Amino acid sequence: MKQGIFPGSFDPVTCGHLDLIERAAKLTEHLTVAVLYNAAKGGGFFTVEERVAMLEEVTSHLPNVNVECFSGLLVDYAQIKQADVIIRGVRSAKDLENEMPMAQINKQLGKGLDTIFLITAPQYAAISSSAVRELALFNRIGEQMVPNFVEIQIQNKIKIKG
Ligand code: PNS
Repeated sequence: MKQGIFPGSFDPVTCGHLDLIERAAKLTEHLTVAVLYNAAKGGGFFTVEERVAMLEEVTSHLPNVNVECFSGLLVDYAQIKQADVIIRGVRSAKDLENEMPMAQINKQLGKGLDTIFLITAPQYAAISSSAVRELALFNRIGEQMVPNFVEIQIQNKIKIKG
């Protein structure tokens, strides 16, 4: 596989995401981590620019990975990138249920563009960005939930937001 895309919201990137990105990078010649810029969803906890910067920092040891943001349909972005494959992580059967229609529509609209699913490593199965955001408000982020760099950014953000 040549060009892969690993899309998501990454608000913020977790250790589970990072593990998946590292594994996806081994499967592809080049992997673009693509952060969805969704104007309709509002600002989020971190801005898209902050999410991209954190992802760049935590993936800096991966020479074949770059980070970008995109808006609109993933299938259109994948076409611009001339991607061979989309890679997504699944933590559970529920995740797969949600992912399947997206993968099928992307395959249809993307003229055969496939999605590959990687099963989340067991130690990260319960971790999500939304859980991290909630725990952060109570200063209860656990070990192995987010990279250290991200935890510092979360603490700084909470200080600023008050
Ligand atoms: O990290 P997330 O929030 O689970 O990522 C979801 C994402 C960004 C991969 C998905 O919402 C997406 O691809 N959005 C772009 C719009 C799009 O193409 N939607 C699919 C319609 S079938």
